[in-house]
This record gives sequence, structure tokens and C-alpha cells, in this order.
Amino acid sequence: MSAVQITLDTVSVQLGAQQALKGVSLCIAAGERVALVGANGSGKSSLLRTLHGLLPPTQGQVTQTPGVRQAMLFQRPHMLRLSALNNVALGVWLDRSLALNWRAAQILALQALQRVGLQAVAGQSARQLSGGQQQRLALARAWARQPDVLLLDEPTASLDPHAKREVEALMADFASNQDRPLTLVWASHNLGQVKRLATRVVYLEFGRVLADMPVSDFFNAELLAALSPAAHAFVQGELS
Ligand SMILES: Nc1ncnc2c1ncn2[C@@H]1O[C@H](COP(=O)(O)OP(=O)(O)OP(=O)(O)O)[C@@H](O)[C@H]1O
Ligand SMILES: [Mg+2]
Repeated sequence: MSAVQITLDTVSVQLGAQQALKGVSLCIAAGERVALVGANGSGKSSLLRTLHGLLPPTQGQVTQTPGVRQAMLFQRPHMLRLSALNNVALGVWLDRSLALNWRAAQILALQALQRVGLQAVAGQSARQLSGGQQQRLALARAWARQPDVLLLDEPTASLDPHAKREVEALMADFASNQDRPLTLVWASHNLGQVKRLATRVVYLEFGRVLADMPVSDFFNAELLAALSPAAHAFVQGELS
């Protein structure tokens, strides 16, 4: 059994008048690649933000295992009016748990840019990069902070097929890296991508987890129909 990194115990989250999460219990263990799926408004982003400690639960408990480092990639990465390199370096430098000086932060940032294949545009303004490049830059910024768990909110939603494949390849590469394998938890509307990358699928509907199973079970139509008719109906709808 792999080490548990984040635990949610019957967590509910209220956002204004909406109950965004209702009694969600989840355990994320090292090395998992967990895809969060469900219709718009089902609670995927809320769940990611809760796992990252950004949304306080109104009920239940979120436990992040001490010493486990987390980073989160938001759906629309916010780049500062700086070079690609300095966007990453600033993220690293501001993370006081890394305790690096500016020069060391820049060196680490350059390594991160190399990691995602963006070293050639290190000096360019981050905001002038393409959407796909900005998403890779956001991945570099998260990776440079040396997380154990990477949370991603629809990381390929606005990308063309080529850029989508590039980001997917990086996610797979981060997850399988021998020196420092990352645990991935990400929201996705792309079931093909879920099939390619996930080890486990969590299906949400109106803030509740209605299915949580290995990816092979989730894509076994007969089994899914028996275990979770709601999730089965969702998958059939997406595939039709
Ligand atoms: N800031 C907010 N204030 C009030 N309600 C919110 C807020 N953010 C989200 N909600 C509500 O919480 C519920 C869950 O939203 P959430 O963004 O987590 O869904 P999602 O699964 O990520 O959807 P999408 O696929 O559209 O990104 C929705 O009903 C949404 O309207
Ligand atoms: Mg969302």
C-alpha cells in the first residue's frame, strides 16, 4: 500500500448559496493518477481547490500528510508581465519552503524550462507565448517547486490537438519519472485522455462522488452500469 498523501473525510463545501461538495471522502496515495470527471458544475474544481487547502470545508476534514509538497495548476494560468524564465523563477523564489536565493531560483527555473522544452523562449515575454506554450510554462512553474502531488484543473481544455498531446506527454512523464514520480489529480472533460493517463477515475455529480474506481473498471460499460448507473449514463452521453 502506497503512502497516503491527502485524505478527505466526509467533506462538504459551501460556495455562496451552492453546496459545491457534499460528503466527499477520498484518499489520494503516492503514485496515483486520478482523473476527476463529471458535468459542468459537478464540483471538480471545488474538489481540486479543497484538496489543495484553498477552500475550507464547512463539514468534515481535509488532511494533508506533513512533508508532502503540493502544487496546483489552474485552468487559466496567470502569467506575470515578465520573461518566461522569470515567471518560473519568481514562483520558485516566493516558495519560502524552498529557501532559494534569486540566482538559485533562476537556475532551477531554467532546468524546469528545459524539462518542458521551452528553453529557447526563456527570455521571451510569457504573455506573448501561445496558449500551448503558456500551459507548458505553467507546468514548468509548478514542477520547479518540486511537488509530490500535482493538481491540475482541465490542463488541456483550451489547447489544439498537438499542444494537448504535448501537455499530456509531460503529465505522463512527470508521473513516471524515476527520480521523483509525481502523483497527479486532474479534472478533465476528455474521456480519451482519462483512458490514456489515469489509473483511477472519480465521477462527480452535484457535488457528490458517485463512482471511484480503477480506470479499467470505469471503462467497462457493463460493470460501470451495475456499479454506478449515473456514471454509466454520463459516459454514454459523452461518447454519443
Ligand atoms: N465562487 C463561487 N460562488 C458560488 N458558487 C460557486 C462558486 N464557484 C463554483 N460555484 C458553484 O459550485 C458548484 C461546483 O462548481 P465547480 O466549479 O466546482 O464545478 P466544475 O465541475 O469544476 O465545473 P466545470 O466543468 O464547469 O469547470 C457549481 O454549482 C457552481 O455554480
Ligand atoms: Mg471546473
